[in-house]
Amino acid sequence: MRCYPILGICLVVLCLTPSLYAINDYEQLCRLFKNGTLIRKPGTCNEYIDCIDGEGTIQVCPSAQNFFNPTEQKCSTVNAVTTNTYCGNRCEGLDSVWVSDPTDCQQYFYCRNGEALSGYCSGTQHFEESSQTCVYSVDSECVDVANICEILPDKTKFRNENDCSTYYECDKNGNHELKSCSTSKATKYFDVETGTCVAPNTVACTAHPKDGVCLNGSKPKSGYVTDGATCRGYFHCKDLGSVEDLNPTWYQCPEGYFFDESRGGCATATSVICTHNRCDGRGSMLVTSSSNECHNYIRCVNGLETEELTCNWDYFFDESIQACTSKIIYDGCCDGQD
Ligand SMILES: *[C@@H]1O[C@H](CO)[C@@H](O)[C@H](O)[C@H]1NC(C)=O
Ligand SMILES: *[C@@H]1O[C@H](CO)[C@@H](O)[C@H](O)[C@H]1NC(C)=O
Repeated sequence: MRCYPILGICLVVLCLTPSLYAINDYEQLCRLFKNGTLIRKPGTCNEYIDCIDGEGTIQVCPSAQNFFNPTEQKCSTVNAVTTNTYCGNRCEGLDSVWVSDPTDCQQYFYCRNGEALSGYCSGTQHFEESSQTCVYSVDSECVDVANICEILPDKTKFRNENDCSTYYECDKNGNHELKSCSTSKATKYFDVETGTCVAPNTVACTAHPKDGVCLNGSKPKSGYVTDGATCRGYFHCKDLGSVEDLNPTWYQCPEGYFFDESRGGCATATSVICTHNRCDGRGSMLVTSSSNECHNYIRCVNGLETEELTCNWDYFFDESIQACTSKIIYDGCCDGQD
């Protein structure tokens, strides 16, 4: 939606409610889904968003096929899901109840004899149809748009932008459920492209889980702690006395530096023992591994680990010359590490 000076009302409304403008920027929804997903455009029956490399383009179905069917990922001549009131008037046949606006978590409609009167929850609150009230957004499961699964194929798995170790999955009734990738044994992160849970070092993530980060056993701890998933990332836990900091801030060491918990700060990568992604922030180069007594190195491509190699003839790897050498190397990241 654009503002043109000639549409004076539109201009005023949009400028007073910038969040509404942001939410209706539906091409942005693509950041949650895997490459190639087609999403029905919220609030329409016959338009869809084509997600390519995280960018959305809005497409319109041909006039002979007026319904975009998210499950089949194509335009159709019939509205396949007859119970789906998503693209019609949600108040049809209803009186004296509130229904959610499927295009916006904050908005709702009051239905009066089938007529939809729109309203808006205050602040950042979300409307919840089940309780017929506005609730704090942290207590709401609404993701960008309410009933997001009604515009997506069944069983779609998509990102939780607040926590890489969890994801949402759509069921066949159009509801989404929060699921976890981690078990008591291991932390895993959700990979949206494959729809699977994978080792954290293979996923680009800036929303590391914060559960228990600022705890030592059952006691609160403060200061700088590793994010447990990357070599450069760390949290700062505030000292809140007898309670733990539940919302520590995440930071990253500069490129070429890793976080060293024992020193409580950032240090050159070759001096820090870390077995997460050692290619983080290194681009495409060879880096020293944290294993095999400085005989091993890792090939980095675009910041990701691709393979781990061992120098021939008991040579050591010297990151500064990007090669194996007959000199003995005692880098802190690998010296004494099996
Ligand atoms: C995303 O999908 C498009 C179209 O299918 C393809 O051309 C592109 O290479 C894909 N991007 C990635 C990162 O795989
Ligand atoms: C955790 O607690 C134990 C015992 O209470 C203490 O010895 C240890 O130094 C603490 N570790 C950190 C990182 O605070």
